Amino acid sequence: MSDDRPIGVFDSGVGGLTVARAIWELLPNESVTYVGDGAHFPYGPRPVEEIRRFAMGIAEHLVARGVKLLVVACNSIEVSAIGDIAAAADVPVVGVIAPGVRAALRATRSGVVGVIGTEATIRTGSYQRAVGSGATLVAAACPLFVEHVERGDTTSAALRAAAARYLAPLDREGVDTVIMGCTHYPLLSGLLQLELGPDVVLVSSADETAKDVYAELVRADALRDAPDAPVHTFATTGDPEAFRRLAEQVLGLEVGDVDRAVIAEDAA
Ligand code: DGL
Repeated sequence: MSDDRPIGVFDSGVGGLTVARAIWELLPNESVTYVGDGAHFPYGPRPVEEIRRFAMGIAEHLVARGVKLLVVACNSIEVSAIGDIAAAADVPVVGVIAPGVRAALRATRSGVVGVIGTEATIRTGSYQRAVGSGATLVAAACPLFVEHVERGDTTSAALRAAAARYLAPLDREGVDTVIMGCTHYPLLSGLLQLELGPDVVLVSSADETAKDVYAELVRADALRDAPDAPVHTFATTGDPEAFRRLAEQVLGLEVGDVDRAVIAEDAA
């Protein structure tokens, strides 16, 4: 039987759309309900407890809208709250960290892997725990990246200078594989690859996460199998017009109307 309920995908901004895009590629029949927390972007510099409070509110909002599965399309949320989100939701929850780590461990030849992410993601040591003894991990926080992306800048000289600075320690340690531990970063793939050089494998968790979404839907017998087109909806707690412009500009997505999501602040 077809399960027509949408998949809920959320992030602090447009970064999670890189994961939504991978889900659409793999599962073109599935509807996606997307929420970005533009009102509280960026999450990366915030304390984990604050990120947790915002994220719990959005997860609850999506579950109330009848999603069949939640995709935490944000590393900063995952490191802060995925356990609590999974405990509170009555639907399966898929994250991005294990899929990214899996792909990186498959790709590395030298066993020296880099991870770049927001301050929250790197500070919590979550990637180190996920990698375990599978590889030597070199981690670097890249706090300026997401703000450039949300301004629509994925190529400027200022951004390249920041990247050169952030990536220098990874280069020194001889990484051969780098995990983009923030869902905004695939939008910087060109710039990152240029800085790291052509021999370094750049890992985006998006494709691997989409495979986990598929596996989870198969397991739950919840695939959508209807002949009519899926329906995608987009909402932000911030400025809907800015969200729409950015999604079209940096992701090339036709998102149509963007709603204003109103989240109960004290949901968690
Ligand atoms: N896209 C989010 C992530 O994967 C971070 C963006 C932010 O700092 O708000 O961590």
